[in-house]
Amino acid sequence: MRVPSPSPGVKFLAWLTVRVLSIPFVLGLALHHGSRRFGVELPAWVSAPLAASSLPMYIAYRVLRKNARQRREAAAMGARFAPVVKGKWPGSIDLIGMMVYNRKFGYPGDGLLELFEELDSPVINVRVLWMDALFTVWPDHIKQILAGDFSNYEKGKRFQYGMESVLGTGVFNSDGEMWKFHRAMTRPFFSRDKVSHFDIFDHHADAVIAIMKERMRGGYSIDFQDIIGRFTMDSATEFLFGCCVDSLKANIPYAPDVLFPPPQSRGEQAERANKFIEAFNEAMQAIAEREILGYIWPLYEIFRDTTAEPMKIVSAFLDPIIRSAVEKKQTAGALAAEKTGEIEAETLLDELLQSTSDPKVLKDETLNILLAGRDTTMHVTTMVIYFLSMYPDVCTRLREEILTHVGPTRRPTYNDIKDMKYLRAVINESMRLYPSVPFNVRDCINATTWPSPDPNDKPIYVPASTKVPYAVFFMHRRRDLWGPDAEEFSPERFLDERLKKYLLNNAFQFLPFNAGPRICLGQQFAYNEMSFMLIRLLQSFSSFELDEAAFAPEARPPKEWANFPGRKGIDKFRPKLHLTMYTSDGMWIKIKEAPNLEEA
Ligand code: HEM
Ligand SMILES: *[C@@H]1O[C@H](CO)[C@@H](O)[C@H](O)[C@H]1NC(C)=O
Ligand SMILES: *[C@@H]1O[C@H](CO)[C@@H](O)[C@H](O)[C@H]1NC(C)=O
Repeated sequence: MRVPSPSPGVKFLAWLTVRVLSIPFVLGLALHHGSRRFGVELPAWVSAPLAASSLPMYIAYRVLRKNARQRREAAAMGARFAPVVKGKWPGSIDLIGMMVYNRKFGYPGDGLLELFEELDSPVINVRVLWMDALFTVWPDHIKQILAGDFSNYEKGKRFQYGMESVLGTGVFNSDGEMWKFHRAMTRPFFSRDKVSHFDIFDHHADAVIAIMKERMRGGYSIDFQDIIGRFTMDSATEFLFGCCVDSLKANIPYAPDVLFPPPQSRGEQAERANKFIEAFNEAMQAIAEREILGYIWPLYEIFRDTTAEPMKIVSAFLDPIIRSAVEKKQTAGALAAEKTGEIEAETLLDELLQSTSDPKVLKDETLNILLAGRDTTMHVTTMVIYFLSMYPDVCTRLREEILTHVGPTRRPTYNDIKDMKYLRAVINESMRLYPSVPFNVRDCINATTWPSPDPNDKPIYVPASTKVPYAVFFMHRRRDLWGPDAEEFSPERFLDERLKKYLLNNAFQFLPFNAGPRICLGQQFAYNEMSFMLIRLLQSFSSFELDEAAFAPEARPPKEWANFPGRKGIDKFRPKLHLTMYTSDGMWIKIKEAPNLEEA
């Protein structure tokens, strides 16, 4: 008989019982039996409360001891403490509630931004349940974490544990030697010839444009986030496996305000693609929720592992592909052994097969890359189209650059894209204001110090085993780093005198792809993919218009937001976060077709 493995919640409770509740329990037993031995029978109403109070006393003792040790260590390092956020409740647990609420209903960073302003510091200690979390938005600190002192920071066991049921162990979620192994195995493929990548983008981009034209001619709006998410899914899976999910062939949603959508029947295969995408999204959502809940996430999964169901569907798609690739390699391997020379890998899976034949390693690694590459690219491309709809002048200028460099119909090449400065600036500016990974976190291993933002002040003490969250989202909008117009959408800032004045002084203030040894592996791939798609779109369409009425009411920004300064007051969609940023209910737009220049 197969014994079902216990849910994450049950495992966590068992741990909690052994590690924490055992203290009052053992003390209670000792009081009870000990008192008998000495002939004074302690009644239960005395020994039980005594035993129960031992737990808070034990915690208080641990906290005081830790504080004293930190004071000594900081003094020895000649450092000072970062200002500590004071919550209203013991252990500042009210802050967890605030963050969970804002995750659901707020603008990214709501609540946190106020804390930074209140304490008037670019680094603050958000100490919840007496555990330090040094939150920073200062470029020099982020530089130290990601590059300068890279080996003293890790993603950590907690991060890995929460993701394990979906991602296993791969380049995105491992640390140390394991991470080095995965990174080395995966990297070569990204530096290979880019021409074949363009073949992949090309036929999926054609499908996107055909669908958009059909909707436009029918007078319908289109959810750009949805369709571009299908484009990045199909492109990524083809790049990884050489065959794609074919989600662009599935049924594409109509806006909620379309009462009688025309029937779509794209067949059974199509529904499988939509199911796969749904399951993939659900699994990602589930691991993101674990991240937000932190240490206590297993308590929310007492009865079931929330990733189990969606992962069944994801595996049903991936497992056969990987199995057949391994089999193919085994037969080919016998042949290739006779010849010398390497076989040129055509897909990332082929590349990985040169290092391993372990199906679990192959599956984990490809899922890691699908996670890292799909939603991120979807989001940035969606933001670009949103900004083009908001700022028609930018759209016109970008279209001019495209028509000058590539013309109205030709397929863009790698060299075209390299030379298109304005396109790159528009993409950069969109990632500056709405980076795909707005908040990130590492664990600091050994105690260290960070330079003080005020050069005349002592450095900041960072205790060992501390969480160090950092917010690219805030850093990208700081007026002291970007100038008074930091919250304005202005692609020219990457090209005019502002470039020299602000960005070139400090490359670490712009980090859409992270930096250092763990910089995004797919950065070049993503720039190419997004550029290719945007060029194709602007060759076919001359302008975009946001269709605010098509958004479900709860997906529109609340009226009060209009009173806020900066982007929160300006923007007309609701940004949301799981592991990466996306927009609530998509991005409904109406499109104008470009005059057919070929016929003219
Ligand atoms: C605009 C699109 C993209 C953005 C903004 C982006 C951003 C990022 C960021 C911020 C990280 C660091 C995450 C962390 O350390 O916590 C990262 C890592 C990574 N990205 Fe991307 N990414 C994009 C597209 C892609 C694509 C298309 C691929 C692959 C096809 C990819 C593959 C990876 C991988 C493998 C890692 C992990 C690297 C490591 O930890 O060593 N990314 N990306
Ligand atoms: C942390 O400190 C220990 C003891 O001093 C040392 O052995 C270890 O290499 C350090 N780890 C890192 C990542 O610096
Ligand atoms: C865009 O940002 C990248 C860094 O990610 C930088 O190397 C590049 O020069 C920028 N280009 C333009 C035109 O903005």
